Amino acid sequence: MLITQTEVFDMSVMRIGVLTSGGDTPGMNAAIRAVVRRGLSFGDVVLGVYHGYEGLMDGRVKQLQSSDVHGIIQRGGTILRTARSEVFRTPEGQAKAMQLMTAYEMDALIVIGGDGSFHGAQALAELGMNVMGIPGTIDNDIGYTDFTIGFDTAVNNVMGEMEKIRDTMRSHDRVAVVEVMGRACGDIALWSAMTAPADIVLTPESPRDWGEAASQLMHNKLMGRFTSMVIIAEGAGKAEDFAKFVQEHTDVEIKPVVLSYIQRGGAPTAADRMLATRLGARAVELIHEGVRNRALGIHDNHIVDVAIKDSTAHNENYDQSLYELHSKMNRIY
Ligand code: F6P
Repeated sequence: MLITQTEVFDMSVMRIGVLTSGGDTPGMNAAIRAVVRRGLSFGDVVLGVYHGYEGLMDGRVKQLQSSDVHGIIQRGGTILRTARSEVFRTPEGQAKAMQLMTAYEMDALIVIGGDGSFHGAQALAELGMNVMGIPGTIDNDIGYTDFTIGFDTAVNNVMGEMEKIRDTMRSHDRVAVVEVMGRACGDIALWSAMTAPADIVLTPESPRDWGEAASQLMHNKLMGRFTSMVIIAEGAGKAEDFAKFVQEHTDVEIKPVVLSYIQRGGAPTAADRMLATRLGARAVELIHEGVRNRALGIHDNHIVDVAIKDSTAHNENYDQSLYELHSKMNRIY
């Protein structure tokens, strides 16, 4: 198709919507800031949509200026708020969102969120909207990108909390089993276990017999290590159940700890701020290049993009070789 002079000209100023959806993640604000600042550098109108797809159906929209994103790169959470919307999953909900975007004359919508949010974005793309997906989830469970925004911060948060837990466990010669988030993905658990570190890690992708893990704890104790740290991914079971199991089968004193939302809040790390900034800016650039319906990510430190319809097909980033390395390095021989 020939691109006319008028279309090229129209391409120069855009009306771009941006929303955050699903679980919040540190670095979402940095991504919003990048979208707004890069958009304004083109002369665009950037429309912030509040409360994710809920706000898209209800018209909770505000034009964002440079001052609206001043001082937010360092803040966790999302200034646009977020939601998980059941209504938006329905064809009626999606049609309502399309009507609203037409009323606001949006040329494109940038969706910052995880797997569920990308499914929503795919639905809007099928209805004719130009949608850009930016992966924002602590879970790191989106396969086409090496990292998702917020994952690095979550791992750093877990590392910090593990130090505090270790202090008190060591004082009592106790073992702790720390449950971390990640839905069905064990990445937060594995990376935290490698770096915090932990003696044992239980992930859904590398199923391990709990009896064998309990024996390792006994072995550690016999070898003089009275304080061992265990990390369990929420997808591999509950800390409370594992502690009960160990208590029933050994004489190891073990305490369950659920880190919960602590790992999802707080200031994003430099790595997350940088990733979010690069992805947010690139999403705007792609829109100006006339590219449609892509999901952005990072691969080998390059910003990449794939068709949004393919972005949820392969949902795992888990590195089994890291798990094996962890096992080799955290046994007492
Ligand atoms: O997807 C992010 C995440 O934090 C998961 O790790 C966790 O299972 C889930 O969201 C918790 O969801 P909610 O915020 O609804 O409690």
